[in-house]
Amino acid sequence: MFLPMKRYLIFLMPLWLLACEVDSPLVAPTREPVTLAVPAHFPQAPIPASNVLTEAKIKLGKQLFFDPILSKDQTLSCASCHPPENAFADPRAFSLGVGGVSGDEPSKRRNAPALFNVVYHQNFFWDGSNPSLETQILFPIESPFEMANKVDTVLKRLRAHPEYPRLFWQTFQDSISAKTLTDAIASFERSLISAGSKFDQFMASGMDSTVFTAAEWRGYKLFFLESAGNNHAECFHCHGGFNFDDPEGRFRNNGLYSFYQDFGRYNVTGNPLDVGKFKVPSLRNIEYTAPYMHDGSLETLEEVLAHYASGGKPHPNRDILIGNIQMTEEEQRDIIAFLMTLSDPDFVNNPAHRPED
Ligand code: HEC
Ligand code: HEC
Repeated sequence: MFLPMKRYLIFLMPLWLLACEVDSPLVAPTREPVTLAVPAHFPQAPIPASNVLTEAKIKLGKQLFFDPILSKDQTLSCASCHPPENAFADPRAFSLGVGGVSGDEPSKRRNAPALFNVVYHQNFFWDGSNPSLETQILFPIESPFEMANKVDTVLKRLRAHPEYPRLFWQTFQDSISAKTLTDAIASFERSLISAGSKFDQFMASGMDSTVFTAAEWRGYKLFFLESAGNNHAECFHCHGGFNFDDPEGRFRNNGLYSFYQDFGRYNVTGNPLDVGKFKVPSLRNIEYTAPYMHDGSLETLEEVLAHYASGGKPHPNRDILIGNIQMTEEEQRDIIAFLMTLSDPDFVNNPAHRPED
């Protein structure tokens, strides 16, 4: 069965339709399990048995994601810090919570990461302190530096709402609870598949290099090959796999600082060897997700590449690969040209990712 790339992205296919003709009418019973359609170079998206994916949950989850009802003073929604036009990343270095407050210590002042292909993530937050999308959701609701609310207050409000009790019942055949609330939002987040970039066209073409411009192709080779000339960018060792992150969710120190204000992974493990290690972010849609790094300290890709070309700052935990990197300015520009092929404009413009009014 062949689907052109764009249709791959848009359709959530009910399981019972998978074996049928693509053109059959797609009238999905909303509580039927659906599977996320992804291209062949993506692994099958893992859905937990405890929260089977349905179109109804995705729809309700989207409504909740965009609804400020979740925050204490009803001013902030998830999308306030995760706007869809920036691939759900915050364009501000640090997000501001209810009342304009920011975190009282460095590990609570982090750049809000993009949300796409999160269905594949092994852990959540820059230090990996959260194990699942479902448990993650309770954190921003209750954090005094984010929504500053209480889950019980949210549940009371939703139960008193003119629409939500009916919508939850239709979706779950169950009432409003922390479980149904988080299951719905997590389902929406899982539906955020981004696989429509020029790089994905290249993969779908059987890796035909003519898909790329000369500069993009030079950048591709520098990114992936250790033997491209005398210089090597080493990027793929850490930003690897179909999603350009660490498929196993490992943490690395990329030499951003000699002294880290935010100790990163160390905050979770207490192991001195983890100071300054952070989750490796995906480089897909990087064009839309500035500023960069856990603290949003680098504003442009030029600054990011200059950072890597310098070999990073000395730190006992700096990854050995970082010190090895060598790139001329022209090579840095070529890598940026390649990184631009990871943009998925259909993803950031997808009306299915915007609130319905
Ligand atoms: C006030 C801003 C703010 C709000 C509101 C907010 N977030 Fe976030 N979000 C952040 C920040 C900052 C981080 C990074 C925190 C960290 O790494 O410690 C984050 C991280 C995440 C992550 C982890 C992504 C990853 O791959 O590690 C997910 C998922 C997420 N938020 C979803 C949500 C959802 C769902 C909501 C609404 C219930 C929400 N956020 C509300 C700021 C916000
Ligand atoms: C040793 C592993 C490693 C290597 C090699 C590496 N990176 Fe990174 N990269 C990381 C980590 C870890 C972060 C997050 C660091 C932080 O936030 O403090 C990161 C962050 C980034 C970011 C910011 C992403 C965001 O959403 O904020 C970009 C862009 C980036 N790297 C590009 C590259 C490029 C291009 C190369 C090759 C020249 C490269 N990286 C090589 C580990 C690596």
